[in-house]
Amino acid sequence: MKFNFCMKIKSLRQVKNLTGKRALLRVDYNVPIEKDSGAAGTARIKDDYKVVAGLPTIRFLLRHKCKVIIITHLGRPIKNQKYFSVKPIADRLSELLGKKVKFVDDCAGLKAGTEVSKMRRGEILMLENLRFSYDEENNDLGFAKKLAKLADIYVNDAFAASHRAHASVSAIKNYLPSYAGLLLENEIVNLNKILRPQSPLIAIIGGAKMETKTPLIKKLLKKSSRILIGGALANNFLATHKIEVGKSLCDKKSIALAKRFLNKKIILPVDVITGTRKDGQCEGRSKGVYQVKKNETILDIGPKTIKLYSRFIKKAKTIIWNGPMGMYESEHFKYGTLSIARAVASRSSGAAFGVVGGGETIEALKMTKMLNYVDWVSTGGGAMLAYLSGEKMPGLKGIVK
Ligand code: 3PG
Repeated sequence: MKFNFCMKIKSLRQVKNLTGKRALLRVDYNVPIEKDSGAAGTARIKDDYKVVAGLPTIRFLLRHKCKVIIITHLGRPIKNQKYFSVKPIADRLSELLGKKVKFVDDCAGLKAGTEVSKMRRGEILMLENLRFSYDEENNDLGFAKKLAKLADIYVNDAFAASHRAHASVSAIKNYLPSYAGLLLENEIVNLNKILRPQSPLIAIIGGAKMETKTPLIKKLLKKSSRILIGGALANNFLATHKIEVGKSLCDKKSIALAKRFLNKKIILPVDVITGTRKDGQCEGRSKGVYQVKKNETILDIGPKTIKLYSRFIKKAKTIIWNGPMGMYESEHFKYGTLSIARAVASRSSGAAFGVVGGGETIEALKMTKMLNYVDWVSTGGGAMLAYLSGEKMPGLKGIVK
């Protein structure tokens, strides 16, 4: 998307006469789940932060006595696997709102239509996982039309899914008056502060996949004063300097990509924590980046790098962080990521404007119990990267101009 700072958002708050309307609310409740030991085949929600983040829009619609019809995807189901049913999310939402959320095991069919026709003002109905129909991911017009028939207006609050050209975020807008929900609006407003930052902007980019991060690095090189690199991403940059990275995650294609960004703004680790097992089930050894042996794997940034990166973070007026610095889920290799999380959180909310995004990054931030210190925790992983990289986002077309 070509970025324009006179950006206009077609906000739900601008709609007149909402009372009594059937609102089709697209949310992103693609939350982490795990097997529920109690009920066979069903899932349990591991983290409900996306559900909590979307509450203000639902409360807004309820205050206006709308009939709220919620649609979401969950995971990447192959068939209608019970495991991917969104029923547990409807139950959780019900608890959070202190109000009944009815669930129907259908999405755009007769059953869903019948349940919607029975709805009264101020009631909530959640439809089954959109991805149980292949038409959703095919951006099928017929499927979008069927969904549209259920409602009077469409509200997109699924920023995290808006980089997808799927029927419930893209094609649907052909058939209903469409608006941005409050969460989506907040995502845009806050992420725009990264695109028009107060200087110095410090970006911290970690994680594993080089190709998913390169458009963002490219974009941020122009705007930021420094980009601090961590995680497996750093291995590719170190390899461009012919530094031995042993058995660490690293490949030729990614090294070639990293070569394009060799620039004085890119800051690399000066020391690392290595292990002898890729899964992190081993002791860690702290060493300079030139001391890594062929049989070792880099699994975290070292103490000198933490100090170096923290110094940059302390000078920042704007901070964006995406991607862990190492294997934070392992006891021996979590310190780099957690230290950076603390540095970012303690600098945010005052001294600097801080934004954090990406599922794993948020999980690590939560481990420090400092999530609330950060100015904006984006619900978008891939969507945040796409937005900040300036990519066209089908879900925003027509509602963010
Ligand atoms: C996300 O969690 O990033 C979004 O829900 C998109 O999910 P997807 O990558 O399966 O399309």
